[in-house]
Amino acid sequence: MKNKAQKDPHWKRDFSVDWDKTSLITRREFTRFLGLSSGALAVGTTVLAAAGTLSKPRTDYPEQEIAAVDQIKPRGFLAFHYPHKDDHALLLRHEDGTFSAFSQKCPHLGCHVFFAEHTGKLECPCHEGFFDARSGDVLAGPPQRGLDRVEIEVRDGKVFAVGMGEA
Ligand code: FES
Repeated sequence: MKNKAQKDPHWKRDFSVDWDKTSLITRREFTRFLGLSSGALAVGTTVLAAAGTLSKPRTDYPEQEIAAVDQIKPRGFLAFHYPHKDDHALLLRHEDGTFSAFSQKCPHLGCHVFFAEHTGKLECPCHEGFFDARSGDVLAGPPQRGLDRVEIEVRDGKVFAVGMGEA
């Protein structure tokens, strides 16, 4: 006659569990843990969203003289740095004499866009992104938004950069 230990399958003897010595998590405890974790996540997400909403947009851009108006001929352009010396930008003069200016940083992956005089468009050489030279809007390619615009003012025969905005 076999005793109980001999009746159990082999795996039960090899991996025996003494249920009295194990600490079990009850369904209630597990449900409480899930509830508290979900609550903490919800509170954290709400705090982060509120912090993002309450942060003020940057308004402390410097005013910077870029060029004299007659320094750039229609369909011409000038490279400059704004708002910091590491930020590359382009000032464009259109055929009607008006100006627009954009960051050269492509919104796709950050390559430098350039003004293609033969097409009259701003182009990104990395993945063939094309932008409208007047508005900075995407014309073709992978970028999902237009170029960041440099806000400009023309006064006293000079062009000034006065801020940044999205195209
Ligand atoms: S980085 Fe400009 S199109 Fe990809």
